[in-house]
Amino acid sequence: MKDVDESIFSALKDKAGTIPFHMPGHKRNEKFDFLKGMEQDFTELDGLDDLHNASGVISLAEKRAARVFNSMHVRFLVGGSTVGVLAGIRTLTKRSDKILVASNCHKSVFNAAQLLSLKIALFMPNLQKEGIFGDIDPQKLEEVLTNDHEIKLFVLTSPTYEGVISDIKKISEICAEHGVKLLVDEAHGAHLGLFGGVSAREYADITVNSLHKTLACLTPAAILSYKNTVDETRLNESLQMFETSSPPYYLLCAMDSMTRYLEDNKIIFDEWRELVLKFKRELKLKNLKLFAPKGVCGYDDSKIVILSNMGGKALKDELAKRNIEAEMYGVSYVLAMTGIGTTREDLDALKRALEEIDGEFDGKIYHKKDSSPLLHALDPQTTKKAVEAYETDGLSAECVDIEKCEGRVSMEYVWAYPPGSPIILKGFEISSEQVEAMKLCVEENINAYSSSRAFPKKIWVRA
Ligand SMILES: Cc1ncc(COP(=O)(O)O)c(C=O)c1O
Repeated sequence: MKDVDESIFSALKDKAGTIPFHMPGHKRNEKFDFLKGMEQDFTELDGLDDLHNASGVISLAEKRAARVFNSMHVRFLVGGSTVGVLAGIRTLTKRSDKILVASNCHKSVFNAAQLLSLKIALFMPNLQKEGIFGDIDPQKLEEVLTNDHEIKLFVLTSPTYEGVISDIKKISEICAEHGVKLLVDEAHGAHLGLFGGVSAREYADITVNSLHKTLACLTPAAILSYKNTVDETRLNESLQMFETSSPPYYLLCAMDSMTRYLEDNKIIFDEWRELVLKFKRELKLKNLKLFAPKGVCGYDDSKIVILSNMGGKALKDELAKRNIEAEMYGVSYVLAMTGIGTTREDLDALKRALEEIDGEFDGKIYHKKDSSPLLHALDPQTTKKAVEAYETDGLSAECVDIEKCEGRVSMEYVWAYPPGSPIILKGFEISSEQVEAMKLCVEENINAYSSSRAFPKKIWVRA
């Protein structure tokens, strides 16, 4: 790392010997040796700046991050991409605006709409034949925006959890032509533009990136990038609403130290990319297969998605037996996420495990389950809105058996986690596809949750 002057790290170091009659209460007392990282746990003292009114070391760190990530402006987020999505949507809308939301968006997008009294229209992304979400069709977007002049904002996820990248340049042009703002949830793509692929940061009004998902940062560090098209006063107001008033300095320091490291070590992205590409080139599989999306705008090569005729859960369990923890599984695939810290040894272990499982597996189709109910759960063709989520407050509700909920108006959200995208929306009638999707989660052991926690047995509906 370069000299550390004007870094958050050195500002914290300068305070190290001071006698702490300020928060936090541990006072960096070494007897609490169970508190790791305590030495960087400070509050807003002179010289440490303030995230909510940054003009010193934090402001410098955000400017440095904007250079490194090729953004016009950057704000540090200490509450993950979740906070970036909430604050970003509030910044780009006003109460009772209508927003267009891609059906595979994270639950934070739907929570934002409910909190901010926004009307929702759903937009169905393309699908890949393997039962995985594809990209956003710009032509279809053009048609939707031409036919609905009420829409003020489009929110989409790119890359998807599985790594599919949409044509954000084209999408941003279409949105601009229609006077529609664009927010890209690029939570999984902080590395895009550095590792390869094109980042939305260049084109979208607001782009949200989790730094903790793929880069060398602590959970839940994230950034919000924005362009000059964004009302900065409203952004400031929105961020201070959703971010804690006590931002953790160890997290801000981690973000700044990582940015400084990346500034001097851009080569690390090429090394990471080469490691993963080499793994993919050398992996010899007869029965299992690597996902390679067709006809999409782009693909994030850092993702390793393994398609499996034995089913996602079975493959995930086989990997776990070999000491490999994968990020997630779907009905028929497993996602192994790489990150900037992935080593050759890790990839060698994954290669050995996959080739061994592949050798033991005879390739027969043991798992014929169709994932389409999950993919179509929020398809606007089959999903009917009764009331907006923000209009459900105060409506009387009852808790019914999953078997008996079809056709009823849901009073809560149900989502699979990961990826955290809802399959049932508050205020929408529960369709037969959604009942199938919920059953599929149970049968396939896909983790799914509901806001009330009554799932999988019951669900709250309008009385
Ligand atoms: C697409 C997407 N957006 C947003 C989030 C929220 O990110 P964070 O955990 O950083 O708050 C997630 C989390 O998994 C996600 O997958």
